[in-house]
Amino acid sequence: MNLPRHIAIVMDGNGRWAQSRRRPRSFGHQAGVKAAREVVRVCAERRIEALTLFAFSSENWNRPANEVSRLMDLFMRSLNREVDELHGNKVRLRFIGDLAAFSPDLRHGMILSERKTAANPGLNLSIAVNYGGRWDVAQAAQKLAKRVSQGELAPEQVDERSLQSEFALADLPSPDLLIRTGGEQRISNFLLWQLAYTELYFCETLWPDFGPAQLQLALDDYASRQRRFGRVPTPKQVGNG
Ligand code: IPE
Ligand code: IPE
Ligand code: MG
Repeated sequence: MNLPRHIAIVMDGNGRWAQSRRRPRSFGHQAGVKAAREVVRVCAERRIEALTLFAFSSENWNRPANEVSRLMDLFMRSLNREVDELHGNKVRLRFIGDLAAFSPDLRHGMILSERKTAANPGLNLSIAVNYGGRWDVAQAAQKLAKRVSQGELAPEQVDERSLQSEFALADLPSPDLLIRTGGEQRISNFLLWQLAYTELYFCETLWPDFGPAQLQLALDDYASRQRRFGRVPTPKQVGNG
């Protein structure tokens, strides 16, 4: 079966999942962490090269203060709880986004866990927190502008390749498959540049209910796609060759 090298997921629907059980939204976020753990496990087992999870967008700060602070607590606790197991499973963990907005404790925890797992040969797991696709483009442009102003780079060298090299996931192949749970069919400022030729998969399942069976449906769907990248299909081409 044709497996994606890199899967990106917008983990949406935690709030509705909790509300339908008459529980607070934070209960849904807790259940969401369990779903994420399971999907990471399956991806590592299936030897997927990279998994990028959208956990907190730059726009999510606009939620009620109480929900944001519960989410920050949950990030801190999950980080402490999960890192050893991730490390044991050879996962290489990193965080992408503007981390400056987080508390020093949380930032410290993120940096330590990145360092601890940096040499691992397994799944490249990237967690997008305070991430926005527009932020990513802007920060890449800013880095190149600095290099131009320091005379390291000519303005004509600001091109797709140099810009690409400054993006958060520059060292990974672009996502082959984007999954968004929770029924909405939008990108919500997740990876913008990187999704140029990604296959999009939307499902109604709310994130806490997304498990190995739902992941398999997405992988089956992906395997049936024909990726053309602007070319015409060759007569023999079947699936996404
Ligand atoms: C996604 O679930 C998790 C975060 C954005 C942190 P939501 O909290 O957006 O859940 P819904 O969309 O309101 O159901
Ligand atoms: C996208 O979900 C962000 C994450 C899953 C972290 P949102 O729930 O914030 O997206 P919108 O508001 O429905 O577009
Ligand atoms: Mg949502």
